[in-house]
Formats: sequence, C-alpha cells, structure tokens
Amino acid sequence: MQSHFTEQDTERYYDTEEANYRLFWDKEGSVHWGYFTDATGGDFLAASAYLNELMLAKSGIDKSSLVLDIGCGNGNTAIWIAENRPCKITGIDLSGVRAGNAAEAAAKLDSELSARLRFEKASATALPFEDGSFSHVWSQATIYHVPDKEAVLDEAYRVLAKGGTFIFDDLTKPKPQVSEQAQKYVYDRLLYDTPFSFTGYQDSLKAHGFEVVEAEDLSSHLKTSYEKLREMAGDATARGLGDFTGLVTAYEHMAAAITEGDLGWALYVCKK
Ligand SMILES: C[S@@+](CC[C@H](N)C(=O)[O-])C[C@H]1O[C@@H](n2cnc3c(N)ncnc32)[C@H](O)[C@@H]1O
Repeated sequence: MQSHFTEQDTERYYDTEEANYRLFWDKEGSVHWGYFTDATGGDFLAASAYLNELMLAKSGIDKSSLVLDIGCGNGNTAIWIAENRPCKITGIDLSGVRAGNAAEAAAKLDSELSARLRFEKASATALPFEDGSFSHVWSQATIYHVPDKEAVLDEAYRVLAKGGTFIFDDLTKPKPQVSEQAQKYVYDRLLYDTPFSFTGYQDSLKAHGFEVVEAEDLSSHLKTSYEKLREMAGDATARGLGDFTGLVTAYEHMAAAITEGDLGWALYVCKK
C-alpha cells in the first residue's frame, strides 16, 4: 500500500512547522528519535545524540569519505559528522526552509569546516548527483515520509560508489493492516505509509542490489522516544511556549501503536 500523501504535502508541513519543533523537541533544530542506553538514561536529547554516535561508528566514515545526508533537515547531524570526521558532506532536504537553515548554519562555522559542507534543496527521489558520487549515503528519520520509497532506494544505490555504505533508520509497518486508531493518529498524522516490515525492508534492499550488513529493530527505543516526547510537549505547554496538547495525545497514540505492533523503527547498514 502506498501513501496517498504527496511530496508537496510534506514540504509544506516541514516548511511551516519548523519553528514549533524547536519549541519542544530540540531548540537546535534536530528532529530524530533516540537510542536509549544506561549512559543516556531517560534523557531524550542525549539518546538522540547517541543515535548519531552509534551510526557514525557503524558507518566507517573517515577523512576520505564523501557523504550524502538524505533529509538533512536543519543540518545538525551533517555538521556534527563534519566536526567529528574530516570528511566532505552534502545534505539535501525537500524543505527549502530547512536546507536554507542548514546552509546558513554552515556559513557561520570556521572556513575549514564550512568548506567541507554543502546543503541544497532536493528530493530523495531525484538526487541531483552523478552516479557513484558518494562513498556513504546516510539518512535519519526521513524515508518514511517519501511516497515512492522504491525511488529513494534506487537513487541511494545509484549515487553510491561501488563498495559504498548506505546507513539509515526508518519507520516500519510490522503488519499490513493496522488498527483504525494507528491509521488516524500515526500514519495519517505523519503523512506516512510504507509497504515495509522489518524483514520486508531487507528483502527490498536486497532486490535493489544492496547487501544488508546489519539490521537492528529499534522499536523499543521509538516507544521510549515518544514517551519522553509526550513529557516534553506537556512541559512546553505548561511553560506557556505554545499549545502542544494535540501532540501530547498524538504521542500517546504513537507509543500505544508500537506496543500494539502497529508501528516499528529499524536501523539498516548496507553495502553496494
Ligand atoms: C523528521 S525530519 C528529520 C530531519 C533530519 N534528518 C534530522 O535528523 O534532524 C524529516 C526530514 O525529511 C525531509 N524530507 C521529507 N521528504 C523528503 C524527500 N522526498 N526528499 C528529501 N527530504 C525529505 C523533511 O523536509 C524533513 O526535514
């Protein structure tokens, strides 16, 4: 089943909701979920930062790497990678507002760092790059939004050099038919649908030519993320930063959908 939402719906959503997310999710502008460990405890932003560290360690990105971040948002992760590895990174995002914020943030960095970063508005389904341009394709919390996920996998494969690494996290749909509640409060709210379960995703990656090196089901971390985000949206409402009561309810539904097996989250590391 394919999403009935368009890329234009998603672009409009992220262009207009940008400021709101900063009020309760991460004031620095990052919008992805967290991987909780003993070290992060229940701190959502520490868990969100830990996901970056985990993925960077698994990616093998080093000083000779040419990295593409698909759905880079405000550029937070790409900038963090460039600060931690002397590689070159290009970030693309469908939202012109977010790609513009990323470019502005990069321009304020020291010249050596900013010279290794590039951001532009583009869609994951039509990447404006030559075949084999990158040693690494990276993506966080993005592909679920794209109605044509097969096109994203085709494009990721095309722009990767032979032997390159595709590392990404994405939402999964553990069963084909989800409850009405999950449809309304999870899939429709996120402008999202997917044909991929945790294992179905791997089958599709293989069909696209990738070797799946590692796959980890992160659903329990997604549930903890939404429990924490519910608290954060509630706190922001109580502090008068905005009315996030709708999101408090939505995030309760997100956590419930994961418990009911209507929603999942996974990390994949693949080789071309
Ligand atoms: C949840 S945010 C994640 C942003 C960023 N990766 C992060 O971790 O902060 C999802 C991002 O995907 C972008 N996006 C959605 N559909 C896209 C597409 N077809 N091509 C490129 N970016 C897309 C959105 O504009 C948004 O910035």
